[in-house]
Amino acid sequence: MKNTNILILGSGGREHAFAWKLAQSKRLNKLFIAPGNAGTLQHGINVNLSVNDFEGIKVFCLENAIDLLVVGPEEPLVRGIHDFFLADPVLKHIPVIGPQKAGAVLEGSKAFSKEFMKRHSIPTAAYGTFTAQTLGEAELFLEGLDAPYVLKADGLAAGKGVLIVDTIEQARLELREMLSGNMLGAAGTTVVIEEFLAGVELSVFILTDGKDYLLLPEAKDYKRIGVGDTGLNTGGMGAVSPVPFANEAFMDKVRARIIEPTVKGLHAEGIPYTGFIFFGLIKVQGEPFVIEYNCRMGDPETEAVLPRIQSDLLELLDAAGKGRLSDMRMDIDPRAALTIMLVAGGYPGAYEKGKHITGFESVQDALVFHAGTKEEGGKVVSAGGRVMALTALGDSAFEARERAFQEVKKIQYEHSFYRSDIGKDMLA
Ligand code: AMP
Ligand code: GLY
Repeated sequence: MKNTNILILGSGGREHAFAWKLAQSKRLNKLFIAPGNAGTLQHGINVNLSVNDFEGIKVFCLENAIDLLVVGPEEPLVRGIHDFFLADPVLKHIPVIGPQKAGAVLEGSKAFSKEFMKRHSIPTAAYGTFTAQTLGEAELFLEGLDAPYVLKADGLAAGKGVLIVDTIEQARLELREMLSGNMLGAAGTTVVIEEFLAGVELSVFILTDGKDYLLLPEAKDYKRIGVGDTGLNTGGMGAVSPVPFANEAFMDKVRARIIEPTVKGLHAEGIPYTGFIFFGLIKVQGEPFVIEYNCRMGDPETEAVLPRIQSDLLELLDAAGKGRLSDMRMDIDPRAALTIMLVAGGYPGAYEKGKHITGFESVQDALVFHAGTKEEGGKVVSAGGRVMALTALGDSAFEARERAFQEVKKIQYEHSFYRSDIGKDMLA
């Protein structure tokens, strides 16, 4: 393979981690990140383009002889950026890491993903799919379930599409509100109602070319803002990898019952798939169930997972793009990784921006991945709710955790916040 020019789409901690990892490849020529952040600047060139500006991305790829497009977030995939590349005679030779629309719908439509799992006997919560026309049936379905009640908007809703409510009265109200389109717009006019599953969650990732796949290290993410998993949901406040309860026996079940039927199911249905599949799983009495699929890597899981991959990621992505994953293997670092996310004052509500961030350059014993940052007048300032992720490795989860919490103190900005209990539950 010749020296490769890569464009990464996205601007979060996930994309900084991708940039950091790809920059280590001897086969990299030039790396570009659109739009990137102040951290991705350390590894490549930021390009002032929106991830949904397909025409702008086309022009950039042609002018800069891009050989590989790596799509970080779901939105351009669900909108069809991969299809856009394939349909264009001057772009179609550029491999895209991230599925076409037909595969991205695994994330883009909860109703589709639930039907898909049913067709392929993949374990998931019992459910029904309803619209405003079938409100009566939806209410009957709710009455047949036990509390709490899980309501999911069908479409992409930027992390706001899942409601878990304690009483049937509240569930009825929320259901009407969602179906009216007032709450989430078109994303919510079809609603999936699910049985509530009680258990521990984990995130499992594969890289697939549509036929074969490589399993990445698994991770656990911490979704709530508050210590002890309390308060509002966030994009993710931290992650650990590996996950102790995902032992070999459990992962064998995950492969046999979930990953393989998913990859085979996509193939059997004629759905091409190049890229990552993120399985949001829950372990219920020892058995794995799928909570959701995502058509991309997780954030902040990527910041914990990529540092544990020893193989050259560029080679793996190149092989995925060429349908040659069967020739490849992924070497995994046995050490534990722990990621702490530093967030802005106010997050996940309205949050502060423009805060001057200091001290991150003096972190030596850990990796710093920028999330919402930008460079302004030679300074790095906050520009998002999730500001920076810090990942430490250690020979044990305990050691990774000690190191991460030691190093994270060095990063300073006004009203910074992070959860002090990331990984605590993994030590027992
Ligand atoms: P999602 O936005 O699909 O990741 O869902 C957000 C969170 O809601 C998940 O991470 C779970 O914690 C929870 N959740 C979703 N579906 C269920 C379910 N059927 N039973 C229990 N918890 C669920
Ligand atoms: N950390 C969960 C996600 O990326 O969706």
